[in-house]
Amino acid sequence: METTLIILKPDAVQRGLIGSITSRFEQKGLQVVGMKMMKISGELAAEHYKDHATKPFYPGLVRFMTSEPVVVLALRGLGAIAVCRNLMGATFGSKAAAGTIRGDFGISNSFNLVHGSDSPEAATRELSLFFKTGEVLGYARATDAWVYDSTGGKTE
Ligand code: RTP
Ligand code: MG
Repeated sequence: METTLIILKPDAVQRGLIGSITSRFEQKGLQVVGMKMMKISGELAAEHYKDHATKPFYPGLVRFMTSEPVVVLALRGLGAIAVCRNLMGATFGSKAAAGTIRGDFGISNSFNLVHGSDSPEAATRELSLFFKTGEVLGYARATDAWVYDSTGGKTE
């Protein structure tokens, strides 16, 4: 099982898409194990996107991410990091495939609705930036017996 950090960016909140986007992840079978609304500080945005610090789009990205509230989610599931990236679609809304979150809900390249961790290392780092100890919960879900096949001894 993996846990990944998802951010519903300011455009998703402003456009009233919190429920629609969260539903995509829930319908896939991902388990919400952490969720909160917050306003990202300049310091947190800089730390989160530090790998992009030298990119031309960086100042605009930090301005965007700190402009209005976001919703942060910790999502758990089998292969959750790649599963979420596939559900999100390509970075640019104008290029993202139909059927993906970015492909279905947006057309902008920078206001692209959602962030998802892109590797296990990034997920660990980013989850610790956005959630304090105890804010990501482990709990048994009633539907897990049907979301996953555990009848053969392992969960698949
Ligand atoms: P994210 O980190 O937000 O999940 O997005 P990503 O991996 O698909 O894309 P990344 O290359 O990490 O870029 C981070 C965010 O910067 C904005 N961006 N704008 N205008 C541009 O050329 C441009 N390129 C990137 C997007 O908001 C992108 O999600
Ligand atoms: Mg990225």
